[in-house]
This record gives sequence, structure tokens and C-alpha cells, in this order.
Amino acid sequence: MRTEVIKIDEENIDIEAIKKAGQIIKEGGLVAFPTETVYGLGGDALNPGSSKKIYAAKGRPSDNPLIVHVCCMDDVAGLVKEIPESARLLADKYWPGPLTMIMNKSDRVPYETTGGLDTVAVRMPVHKTALELIKYSGGYIAAPSANISGRPSPTSAKYVIEDMDGRIEMIIDGGEVEIGLESTIVDLTGDVPMILRPGYITAQMLEETLGTVDQDKTMMSGDCKDKPKAPGMKYRHYAPKGELTIVSGQRSDVVNYINEQASRAMEKGIKVGIIGTEENIASYRGDSIKSVGSIADEAMIAHRLYGILREFDDEDVREMYSESFDTCGIGQAIMNRLLKAAGHNVVKI
Ligand code: TXA
Ligand code: MG
Repeated sequence: MRTEVIKIDEENIDIEAIKKAGQIIKEGGLVAFPTETVYGLGGDALNPGSSKKIYAAKGRPSDNPLIVHVCCMDDVAGLVKEIPESARLLADKYWPGPLTMIMNKSDRVPYETTGGLDTVAVRMPVHKTALELIKYSGGYIAAPSANISGRPSPTSAKYVIEDMDGRIEMIIDGGEVEIGLESTIVDLTGDVPMILRPGYITAQMLEETLGTVDQDKTMMSGDCKDKPKAPGMKYRHYAPKGELTIVSGQRSDVVNYINEQASRAMEKGIKVGIIGTEENIASYRGDSIKSVGSIADEAMIAHRLYGILREFDDEDVREMYSESFDTCGIGQAIMNRLLKAAGHNVVKI
């Protein structure tokens, strides 16, 4: 299949181009598009055939449900049995935005889209191109991240092209995304709301609106016997080509440990990559040293993380070491993704 790549400027949207993309989705085709979190791989959420194509294009297990993207609150009613009060409160505050809410699905949503579940994940993104595309696609776009299963979610169109060229009808290039990590997922179907995936909208922000909010125990722990409640979180999101170790402890001890490990590996001819914060970066010795941003700027760390992991793969790095990050605020989402990439391989010194 030939994949058409078109550029769309969020500040000056070419509506004719969006209409063409929308038509592809209406006819059962797939279009990758930018959102504020990561790029999505979009198909018609109400068309079972489209969802099957999404799984095939990603190489993703079909028991891993897709998020349905909407562009207005009125359209949510068509997807769910009822809109819980908690969802209305959160939508008032955080939609459009990087928050996904799980509700009981209506009969309109095919099981192909929900991976066989009776619940549906719904998100209204804030990215203007995404909102226009949803509008001109019929209102409901099922979209997982636009990466091949097992690779980091794409934060710019070049990574989407790397993974999806030849597999889908169209890629909309909207430049680099803003946030860089996937949306927060909160399940509103139980007595107490539960966070299934941490993101830019933090637990504290959700608690301010809803009171008590639970967190899926498996989010930050590797040796938990329970199964994650978001089926997708059970997969090792991103399996780097090399071995990633997260090192936590006092700043100077971390730097020394990583440098010792790096020089031991390099003596053996193994290519080493290091992810460090701006404050420490000059102290490292390794083949490929990447600054993820300042310790104080978590938004920047989130924004850069997936790009760095992709670069290490491209450079064929075989051993990787990363500093550990605080788990408050968006730091929890950063550590959740890093822990998954590392298969929970953490050295505490
Ligand atoms: O920021 C995002 O959410 C991006 C952009 C494109 O919007 N999308 C995204 O989709 O990250 P994906 O498919 O990569 O991740 C969706 C996650 C998976 O872990 C999946 O298991 C979970 O959401 N999920 C979807 N529907 C669910 C449901 N009904 N119950 C529990 N988990 C669900
Ligand atoms: Mg994904």
C-alpha cells in the first residue's frame, strides 16, 4: 500500500486536506494523526473492520482495547450506557485534554474496538488537527499510539513514517507533539475511580475533582501478582534492543555507578547509552550520552523520553543506563514508562 504523507499546521488547518483524511476513515481506511500526547493510528471506532485493520497494522494483540476519540461532549452519549457524574465533572475540567475515561459501553461500540470488554475508553484530545479530523471522520476515531507494537509511542511524524509507511493510507505530519507520553487513564465503572495508567493529568489533579481515587497497584511494581486492569499495561510496552537499567540513589553515587558499569561494558566492546539529567550530563562517560532535560523540568523529561529510547535503538546501543526520577506529579508517568522499558530492572545504591 502507498502511504500518503501530508503536512498540516495546527494554527492554519487546511480543511480540504482534513476532509480527505476524514473520508479515508469513513470508508474504513486508516490515518495516523498528531494529538497533544503522542501520534494516534486512527480508524472508524464503530466499524469492526477498521479496528481489525488497526490491530494488523500495529501487530498488536486483539485483546488490547482501543481508545475512542471524540470531538464534543454530545457524542459521548452514543458510546456509553450512561455518563457517570464523575465523568461530567472530569470532562468539565480536563477535556479536551490528555485524559481517557473508561465507562460502560453501549451496543453501538463493537467488541472489536474494546478487545471484547463491556467497557469503552473515551478521550477528547485538545490538539486542533485531531479535533477537526474526528469531526470530519464521522465523530468516533479509535486510535492506539501509531507505533508498531513493542516500540515507543511516536512523538513526531518521522517515527510514525518509520513504523507505518506502507501499512496505512495516510499520515498527517503535525510536527512534534507537546506532551510526549500517553494520556492518563481513569476507570469510572467501579465504586471508586481508579487510575490504570499515569499521565500528564496526575492523581492529585483527579483527587481535587473526585475526592478519593485508587491506583492500579501494578502501575509502578514489577513483582505484583495481580494482572494490570488496562490490558495493554501487561505487555512490556517497549522492549529495547539493548538492556536498560535504572539506577537510583544519591546523585554522585548514581553517576559513579553508571560510569563504572559503562566503562566495564565498553572495555568488552559493548555499545553503551546513558540517559541523564542536564545537571549531571557532563559527568558521564559512554558511547551515547543523552540529556533528557533538567531535573526541575519534568514536562521536558516526558517530552524527550520516547525519542531518546528510539535513538538508542537506531544507534544499536546494547546496554543502557538511566537515572531514576521522582514519582510525584508527571514524574509518576515518566517512571511508569521507564520501568516498563527496563522490565523493572532497577539498581538501588
Ligand atoms: O494519549 C493516548 O491515550 C494515545 C493517543 C493516540 O490518544 N493513545 C494511546 O492508546 O495511548 P494505546 O492503545 O496505545 O493505549 C490504550 C490503553 C491500553 O493500555 C489499553 O489496554 C487501555 O488503554 N484500555 C483501552 N480500553 C480499555 C478498557 N475498556 N478497559 C481498560 N483499559 C483499556
Ligand atoms: Mg500504545
